[in-house]
Amino acid sequence: MAALGSGLHEILILQCKISIISFSTSIIRVISHVGPMGTDPFLKNIHAELVGSLKYWSTMSPDVVVVNLQRISDEVIKDERDVSEVGRLGFHSTLLAMCESCPNEEISALANELVARCVGMSSDGCFPMLTQPVLEYNTAFAGRSQPAYFSHDVGQGISLCVKSRAEKSALVENMLWPASLSLARWIVLNQDTIIPRAPKTGRSAKFRVLEIGAGLGAVGIAVCKLLESIHSNAKLAGLNPLVYESFVTDRNSRITSTILENIVLNSLDPKVQCIPCVLDWDILDSLPADKTLDHHDNLASYVQPNSVDLIVGSEVVHEDGHDNGVISAIKYYLRKTKDAQCYLMLSHEHHRYAVKELKEKLSMDPDLDYILYPTNFNDDNGSTGCYNRYELHRIAWNL
Ligand SMILES: C[S@@+](CC[C@H](N)C(=O)[O-])C[C@H]1O[C@@H](n2cnc3c(N)ncnc32)[C@H](O)[C@@H]1O
Repeated sequence: MAALGSGLHEILILQCKISIISFSTSIIRVISHVGPMGTDPFLKNIHAELVGSLKYWSTMSPDVVVVNLQRISDEVIKDERDVSEVGRLGFHSTLLAMCESCPNEEISALANELVARCVGMSSDGCFPMLTQPVLEYNTAFAGRSQPAYFSHDVGQGISLCVKSRAEKSALVENMLWPASLSLARWIVLNQDTIIPRAPKTGRSAKFRVLEIGAGLGAVGIAVCKLLESIHSNAKLAGLNPLVYESFVTDRNSRITSTILENIVLNSLDPKVQCIPCVLDWDILDSLPADKTLDHHDNLASYVQPNSVDLIVGSEVVHEDGHDNGVISAIKYYLRKTKDAQCYLMLSHEHHRYAVKELKEKLSMDPDLDYILYPTNFNDDNGSTGCYNRYELHRIAWNL
């Protein structure tokens, strides 16, 4: 890296890094509103160009980058709302990379200034960030031919086929998000309050679980592993176990075919049914063409509305509109009893679109009982130094 000729550069990088660290321990103050830019294509394009420039310093004109950085500084960053917006688009890591590795002094100085301005405007004293997937396999693991084993620290871990963000075809559903491991861990630790061991008098003998926006199916598969052990322990104790049935769903059959692969990979006991199928929360009542339940089929054909006892989801709210889809899916499928509940593990609203809207809608809905667990779940992905911060949302009917 070219010398900058002053200590400012190092100080700003340090300030930025400290802000990440302090972010993990400080209590986050809520940002009052989400920027009007939303998923503004202008900002997205600029970000894509900046990311591109990181790869091609040697061949591209630095003027383009300088102009883009100046435009963000002059036209975009006016208040905390804008800072939040650029942070959630992933500007934080891009700017930091520019500070650290750009050979052009003007560019790294501009990136430094921008980082400092954003940190200064944030009420948390930290730059909001795009939540990162589990990145351990970014370099060590290419493609889905080799499954990887993930531990969620309690109980049995899970084997999954993961793609890294670095791969061209890697989409959000092909990556593992740390929130899924946090949620799996939390469910295992709190199983006694979440999963019944035996049928209650007058209640259904079937306990049905649904994972929404499952991606690779980590939470659903971890829950199935837990149900396997609950089922066999109940049998050993001479109880008549409940019939457990889990649906691990995502929006299309391309994704559910990967979920199917991952279910097979984990050799689940057939006594506990773990079924991948399609659930697009924007089209809740669409029916499939044929009547054989496989991963292509839509959940609505097989599961009646309001017949699910436990709904789970991790990182399922990250784009505008996801809040409405997720709430609709919960209301459509959650059984109308006091015991039925839904747990979502989501990034803090500081880092993801639509989480703030979800919280507001859930707390104002008279039909729902909503608890935002005060505990913050931090998963420090040591390999990247990136902090992911989660909150657990519990939703039930207000009966
Ligand atoms: C950030 S990923 C999280 C995946 C997984 N839950 C995890 O934590 O690893 C978000 C998931 O939501 C799914 N999703 C997005 N829109 C959806 C929709 N309309 N209906 C159902 N799932 C959707 C995506 O396909 C993706 O798998």
